[in-house]
Amino acid sequence: MKVICTKDYQDMSRKAANIISAQVIMKPNAVLGLATGSTPLGIYDQLIDWYHKDDISFRYVTTVNLDEYRGLARTHEQSYWYFMHAHFFNHIDIDPSHVYLPNGNARDPEKECLAYDEIVRSLGGIDLQLLGIGLDGHIGFNEPGVAFELGTHLVDLDQSTIEANKRFFNDDASLVPKQAFTMGIRMIMQARKVVLVANGKAKAEILRKAFWGPVTPEVPASILQMHPDFTLIADKEALSLCPQCL
Ligand code: GLP
Repeated sequence: MKVICTKDYQDMSRKAANIISAQVIMKPNAVLGLATGSTPLGIYDQLIDWYHKDDISFRYVTTVNLDEYRGLARTHEQSYWYFMHAHFFNHIDIDPSHVYLPNGNARDPEKECLAYDEIVRSLGGIDLQLLGIGLDGHIGFNEPGVAFELGTHLVDLDQSTIEANKRFFNDDASLVPKQAFTMGIRMIMQARKVVLVANGKAKAEILRKAFWGPVTPEVPASILQMHPDFTLIADKEALSLCPQCL
């Protein structure tokens, strides 16, 4: 595990964008595993900026997103499909047929999960997986207690995740979908490179538990300690409880 301590959110975003950019320059047809949440927004802004400056092209890139709420239409502003297009895909030269997210409206969830695993397998796996982290240690929507060996699956969201995400739903927890599709830990661990970003004091305790505590399904992100090419990029505040950054 490599830890990069940044001075602030912008610095975190630029450093992570640099790593993604290097990946795409080295392998123009890279498969990028992408994440939603507020943390990666600065990374997407930076990559869009470099795209406009002609420093990077996504023309041959394929993306596979981590997760999607169950039951929201793609046109719903809080669907991850909408989020990714609004904040990233609509602003770069990616081929729309190279963009994958789980279909939150699939009639047969089990079939959808198997199909999503098959998409990633047929693409040859993920070159670089970008992750954020939930306050309870979830990655994607792999909530505490998840079996590390699971493939893509449908999850019941923890109440704490619903509470944390209600800010995107007019602060009304009843509007937050109760289930989501998520890539499993197995696939995340099979990515050739994993980068997790975090910022702010609110993430300090969970970073300490996940990366300086025991590896346990109770803190899903802790498994990343075992990944051969895992980089944590976090600002000083998020790393304030972590020994390496004292
Ligand atoms: C959601 C997403 C996660 C993300 C997490 C943290 O639950 N499914 O992929 O990491 O939120 O979000 P934020 O970056 O807004 O703290």
